[in-house]
Amino acid sequence: MKPVESEFVFALTNPGSEKALKLEVETMKLGWRPGYQRRGFVTFKADKPFSFDSLDVEIATARRLCLSLGKATTREAGVALLGETRIIHHARFADRKMQGVCDGKTSGKPQLGEVVGTVVELGDSEFWAGLHRHAPFLSPDPAGDAGILMPAESPSRAWLKLEEAARFFDLEFTRKDIVVELGCAPGGVVLALINRGVPVIGVDPAKMAEVVLASAIAERQDVLTDSSWFFQCRKPAALTSKRDLGLGVTWFMSDMNQSPEVVLKECARFCKMAPSIRGVLITLKLTDLLQVADKSQWFASLAEMGFKTIRLQQLSVHHKEFALLALR
Ligand SMILES: C[S@@+](CC[C@H](N)C(=O)[O-])C[C@H]1O[C@@H](n2cnc3c(N)ncnc32)[C@H](O)[C@@H]1O
Repeated sequence: MKPVESEFVFALTNPGSEKALKLEVETMKLGWRPGYQRRGFVTFKADKPFSFDSLDVEIATARRLCLSLGKATTREAGVALLGETRIIHHARFADRKMQGVCDGKTSGKPQLGEVVGTVVELGDSEFWAGLHRHAPFLSPDPAGDAGILMPAESPSRAWLKLEEAARFFDLEFTRKDIVVELGCAPGGVVLALINRGVPVIGVDPAKMAEVVLASAIAERQDVLTDSSWFFQCRKPAALTSKRDLGLGVTWFMSDMNQSPEVVLKECARFCKMAPSIRGVLITLKLTDLLQVADKSQWFASLAEMGFKTIRLQQLSVHHKEFALLALR
């Protein structure tokens, strides 16, 4: 494909996050100025034209970032703006959500480096077309919306958060992993992990759902097989000790409704107690999405713990939340 340049980029975000997106871009000092805006959709302009390389920036509040090729009045005309692009994703603002459109005609998962087209429907006759290159830690799904359906047996929507994060970041959990999750009740995340065959130590004083308790073991030391199991440490995170964790914990997760500072402090303590932890996946709960302006402090804490790859990302299932991923 010929080099593409554009005067504008557009970002897709969760409706209601537009202000946080603009603040985040301003805080990053990219020199991008916000332009046209609709619910879930913001364009930016800069002094120089944008190229694909301009999109190599990590904007947590953008579920998708594209070089804008302009707008059309029909979907077909929007698709035509994209030229010869193998993978074309469709998105639509509907039911107050920015949704990916899965029309059954799947064109497969994009390869790394492959150019993906996106057509965004904002109204009856408003279709924006854009391009981006698929890269690690970018969602392979239309508009960053995995369209995953939660099973009826899941005790909470946290199931969706784990599944969408795994898909967005292309994470693999195996039966050789052991996950410790702080704030595990009632058990949506635990259920998703158990169903993937992954053992979990859950930390939470609250009661777990029956569907999860079916896999529960009474003592951490009971574990003799490599099949998945769940052990609940029924106390607050701050009272959990090295003994509760045992050996071999590989992932730290948290879904506690606590401030980022409290969660990151516990993360540092758990990483000290279990040096085998290789990955961190936190659902950061904020009182205001504008707290995204503090992201460099969260990254600095994780870097101090020895993590090299750090990503903050809004998922389509999030409200006032972000997924914070860190890998050694
Ligand atoms: C949003 S819910 C978690 C949902 C859960 N991850 C799931 O998959 O269903 C938040 C949980 O955090 C727990 N929590 C809050 N503060 C905590 C702390 N200091 N230590 C452990 N758990 C805590 C609460 O008891 C509550 O169950």
